[in-house]
Amino acid sequence: MKKIQIKTVKGFNEILPPESFRWRLVEDKFRDLLEGYGFAELRLALLEPTELFARSIGGETDIVEKEMYTFVDRSDRSLTLRPEATASVVRAYNQYSLGKISEINKLYYVGPMFRYERPQKGRYRQFHQLGAEVFGEESFYQDAETLVMLAQFFHALSVKGAVLHLNSLGCEACRPAFRDQLKNYLYERQEALCGDCRRRISENPLRALDCKNPQCREAAAGAPLISNALCDGCHQHFSGLCSLLDDVGLDYQVNPRLVRGLDYYTRTTFEFLAGDLGAQNAVAAGGRYDRLVEELGGKATPAFGFAIGFERLMMLIGSEVAPLSSPFVALVPLGEEALRLLFPIHVELNREAQMTTLGFQQKSLKSQLKKADKDGVTYALIVGPDELNQGEALCRNMRTKEQSRLPLNRLGEALRELLP
Ligand code: HAM
Repeated sequence: MKKIQIKTVKGFNEILPPESFRWRLVEDKFRDLLEGYGFAELRLALLEPTELFARSIGGETDIVEKEMYTFVDRSDRSLTLRPEATASVVRAYNQYSLGKISEINKLYYVGPMFRYERPQKGRYRQFHQLGAEVFGEESFYQDAETLVMLAQFFHALSVKGAVLHLNSLGCEACRPAFRDQLKNYLYERQEALCGDCRRRISENPLRALDCKNPQCREAAAGAPLISNALCDGCHQHFSGLCSLLDDVGLDYQVNPRLVRGLDYYTRTTFEFLAGDLGAQNAVAAGGRYDRLVEELGGKATPAFGFAIGFERLMMLIGSEVAPLSSPFVALVPLGEEALRLLFPIHVELNREAQMTTLGFQQKSLKSQLKKADKDGVTYALIVGPDELNQGEALCRNMRTKEQSRLPLNRLGEALRELLP
């Protein structure tokens, strides 16, 4: 048969060692922080009925119109690989009546999302998110607490230069009048808009405020601002949030042009933007969606959430953060008898903690030490015919090159004493 090399689907980002060690460390930090704030993990289906996303994210959005991996399965059902997880979390919240378990429900997730976007730096077709959603709390205190938690996470990872941009998109009381105002403004300038923006004026005029096309930007520059159209309730909610953030010293910029690419938001929306990321500069984003639980068939329940782009986060924290988790000792046998003697010690020590490697292939001393160096171990423990005769192993500190001898009959104990 002809030999062929099969490769991953274009834009599907895979995480290989040693990067995967760094991902694990960051993921552990995320889990610890969120569980400390009372969040519990949801592990959800990656595949959903297509209708879920069309109804929640919105039919006239880029994600639903152009970016979904949708296919018909063998039973003629239209299914979609999830492009984001908020819709799935709400689906699960309703399906399993999670609102009955506790009044305020805090849930988090970690996992892959799929969008058919043009791959470039920081943008993939399979990417990963760390996300969280809080159900049952309408107060702006919840928005503030969640944003502070997110900023705390970035701080713990020494993320620099991520700026919080904030806006309010209003609610069903004030947004319709604003949309009409914006529609009129856009209709008057429709010649200058790109095809997508022109087509979406009637159903989704807010998108024009966020379009990257330079002509649309210019046309939208003088557009009415939602901040001038908020009802009293939305205004108080937003100014309450801003003053809480002032109280705790969390910096932010109010950005009245921040509309999101998903339709479910009400009131608070936000993005953490980082210049170092280049064109794809949002490292995290989210907001409030007080109508979605009801729109997807549940009881009216306010909600707030966010998602961090895992790939983009890792680009921002550089390589210095997470040290490689490497084994501590390389056991270096020279000959069958030494291998036989070291194997039970290797097994015993690894049962307690992952700390030794053992070469099974009877390679030369030089090549085993080279590998030990590459693995980043602290010690190499060498046992050859001479060491067996003398009843002592040679222990070499790979960093300082100092050598010492350890008794073969109590090797396990002696190695444990070397542990940091
Ligand atoms: P989103 O803005 O679509 O929001 O995505 C959140 C984050 O995921 C972005 O800020 C970015 O860091 C990352 N991201 C998005 N697309 C890609 C891509 N193609 N490649 C790499 N990273 C990407 C949501 O997904 C909402 N579900 C957030 C939310 C949660 N709102 C409320 N709760």
